[in-house]
Amino acid sequence: MNKKIIAAGVAGMLALAMAGCSGGGAGTDDGAGAATGSTGATTDAAVDNSDVTIGVAMPTQTSQRWIADGKAVQEGLEALGYKVDLQYAGDDIPTQTQQIDQMITKGDKLLIIASIDGTALTSQLQAAADAGIKVISYDRLIRGSENVDFYVSFDNYKVGVAQATSLLYGLGLTDKEGKAAANAPAGPLNIELFAGSSDDNNAGFFFDGAMDTLQPYIDKGTLVVKSGQTDFATVATLRWDQAEAQKRMENLLTSTYGGNGAGLAGVLSPFDGISRGVITALQGVGMGPSIEQGLPIVTGQDAEIASVKLINDGVQFSTIFKDTRKLADEAVAAAKAYLVGDEPEANDTETYDNGVKVVPSMLLVVDTVNKDDIKSLLVDSGYYTQAQVDAGQ
Ligand code: GAL
Repeated sequence: MNKKIIAAGVAGMLALAMAGCSGGGAGTDDGAGAATGSTGATTDAAVDNSDVTIGVAMPTQTSQRWIADGKAVQEGLEALGYKVDLQYAGDDIPTQTQQIDQMITKGDKLLIIASIDGTALTSQLQAAADAGIKVISYDRLIRGSENVDFYVSFDNYKVGVAQATSLLYGLGLTDKEGKAAANAPAGPLNIELFAGSSDDNNAGFFFDGAMDTLQPYIDKGTLVVKSGQTDFATVATLRWDQAEAQKRMENLLTSTYGGNGAGLAGVLSPFDGISRGVITALQGVGMGPSIEQGLPIVTGQDAEIASVKLINDGVQFSTIFKDTRKLADEAVAAAKAYLVGDEPEANDTETYDNGVKVVPSMLLVVDTVNKDDIKSLLVDSGYYTQAQVDAGQ
């Protein structure tokens, strides 16, 4: 077979497999996933990938999104007949480095890695390169290494813009798209800022996108960060940890808002886990419990089911939906391309400089979800069922 025919066969097989693995959403149960996998694997009996194992290193199972990511990647790879070595590291850096070391020594042929600390994997990636193993950085860019071959993610700067725009919308300053509202309040409106984990490259992109959007309102005095805490290092939340976010919000309520939240209008939150920590703190001093009852506007990210329920209940204002099925599809497509000796298709070759090189990237777009978008974006697309939204799990 010449290369074109092989490529066409692979593309066809991939398309079939993709059609299969795009069906289930974050809430799809294991039974459905297994069925998808076996259907996909039988679509081209001529290609036997069963002696090829792909290592998939995910950060943590404490966040629902990474469970969905791991499952979607695994199903997509299995649908192509590959074996999958899926590992979660409990958000512990040494555990993740050890897992990756083992993947390399066991002879895994390719690595897909969502890192915990984006700068901690240099020696693992060197070992991978020495063994001829391609590395795909999954959602979080691995920094400080020339041995990152490809990056699949979302447009992370735009995620931050979308979060800040949603905050402005919730505060009545703009419409949903960020256009100045006709009868916007003059302010000043008090807000507080939260950022993600400072060792995660994405956290800076989210924060930069958000601050570029909020800064003009802060400069005009329409928005005031009353605590004065506006620099990334101060507002960052190590490991994106919900309990840590709750604690920081509680401290802010005590130090800056009279202990009961008086005058606080909104909170920029970069991730649903952080949002839930913030909301618990706000409700803990008697605010709300819903937005209608005076709870500040709180943003989010990842459309985690617990937060989708809070949005549906009028408690959390919004989240940013990153379709993990699509991200997994891109990771699987890139893996497949490398394993047949091709290059994956990139749509950005400029933005993601990891400190050593610009990593070719495939970036997907995101959607903002408010209460009235849940059905169209999350339920109709099969990501969740209405029953899951109602139950919050
Ligand atoms: C980031 C990711 C976000 C969120 C966060 C916490 O790297 O881009 O979507 O999941 O981690 O897990």
